[in-house]
Amino acid sequence: MPQNIIFSPLADELAAKAREIAEKYVRPLSAKHDKAQEYNWDAARAVAQAGLFRTFIPKEYGGLGAGILALARVVEELARADSGFGVAFAVNALGAFPILVGGTEEQKQRWLPKIAAGEKFVAFCLSEKFAGSDAGGLAVTAVEDGDDYIICGEKKWTTNGGVADIYSVFCVTDPTSKSRRISAIVVEKGTPGFSVKKIEDKMGIRTVPVVETHFDHVRVPKKNLIGERPGMGFKHAMMTLDLARPGVAAQAVGAAQGALDYANVYAQRRQQFGVPISNHQMVQKMLADMAMKTEAARWLVYSAAAAADSMSPRVSQQAAMAKCFATDMAMEVATDAVQIFGGYGYMEDYPIAKCFRDAKILQIYEGTNQIQRIVIARGLIREAAELEHLKAYIPVETQNSYQTDSAAKG
Ligand code: CAA
Repeated sequence: MPQNIIFSPLADELAAKAREIAEKYVRPLSAKHDKAQEYNWDAARAVAQAGLFRTFIPKEYGGLGAGILALARVVEELARADSGFGVAFAVNALGAFPILVGGTEEQKQRWLPKIAAGEKFVAFCLSEKFAGSDAGGLAVTAVEDGDDYIICGEKKWTTNGGVADIYSVFCVTDPTSKSRRISAIVVEKGTPGFSVKKIEDKMGIRTVPVVETHFDHVRVPKKNLIGERPGMGFKHAMMTLDLARPGVAAQAVGAAQGALDYANVYAQRRQQFGVPISNHQMVQKMLADMAMKTEAARWLVYSAAAAADSMSPRVSQQAAMAKCFATDMAMEVATDAVQIFGGYGYMEDYPIAKCFRDAKILQIYEGTNQIQRIVIARGLIREAAELEHLKAYIPVETQNSYQTDSAAKG
């Protein structure tokens, strides 16, 4: 069924604020932060002041309760100016969702209002050196010790690491169990034994830190166990990703739109053969395809975000479709944008090269696009059961077998 996509006036207002901040605080300093691999604190403060961190958090926890669709629109606007800042913002939702989907009332009251106010930033610690796509294969352990857990091990690819104050950390609490092996535990910055180690030197999205987080006998109270019931971690991680993937997809739409904007302006000004290159049909075709793909992805993303808001049973598939389609599209659009810029596109003097570098990670993080296709295909296989009435139209031939003479003679 097609999703009902309704933009509330609040979502429009938040998207407009995000665009204003993007133009004032994000785009002008984007190249500087990218080169230096610096976090854009000014933009983050402006986002907090404008109340944008409140977007996805329910009203009862200090948020605006505007939902995932509004979140997608805000992310899109920020990413249009700088895809890296788009994820620097969106990763707070990724880190907060485990608390939102699995936390107790007390835990939600303890952490969400501070996240909503932008007083505390969040990170999501799932992946490890030897557990990426196979998220269930993680090895960081949390062992019970009286009223506490002791966490040991290392996490990889922690986006926002160091900047964040709160970390949703997925740990093995029951190594003997297959389905209830993992639990999510909140670790706060400053807890003894917790440290940020390797800061990755990345190809793109360089304004947001991606780090290794190390846990050397980190003691945290059991009341930090999300949901206060062990073994729910894998489910919470999957539910989190269902809600967060429309956000990455929205980042991709913003990134593609940003690259298209630059290519469009360039094509009007760059003259070859005595006319702007936008007069040449081959360039027109490229621009038209870029616009068409961006627009198609945008509506798929809105549909997935609306599915998340309405708690549709198809949310996993829709989120995976949006993530996969929009991020593959963003890579294509960024590649074509560089092509339109020609030699200038290949130089780091102009932002278009950064658009290209930033786009690649979209196809990798929050589940590679190969994993998204697995999620989509598994959903299709389940849905085949609802299509039993089509059986009559499917070939039902049987294969006869004939014994050969020698076999018959024995
Ligand atoms: N919602 C709720 N429960 C779910 C679920 C969902 N969407 N998907 C699966 N589950 C449940 C299943 O029902 C099952 O429960 P039971 O044991 O009770 O039956 C359990 O989880 C195991 O499910 P699967 O058998 O499907 O699990 P799997 O091992 O085959 O894995 C997978 C499925 C889809 C491949 C999953 O591992 C996955 O999504 N991997 C990718 C991980 C990922 O996206 N990592 C990126 C991390 S974030 C990041 O990139 C860093 C950053 O900071 C940006």
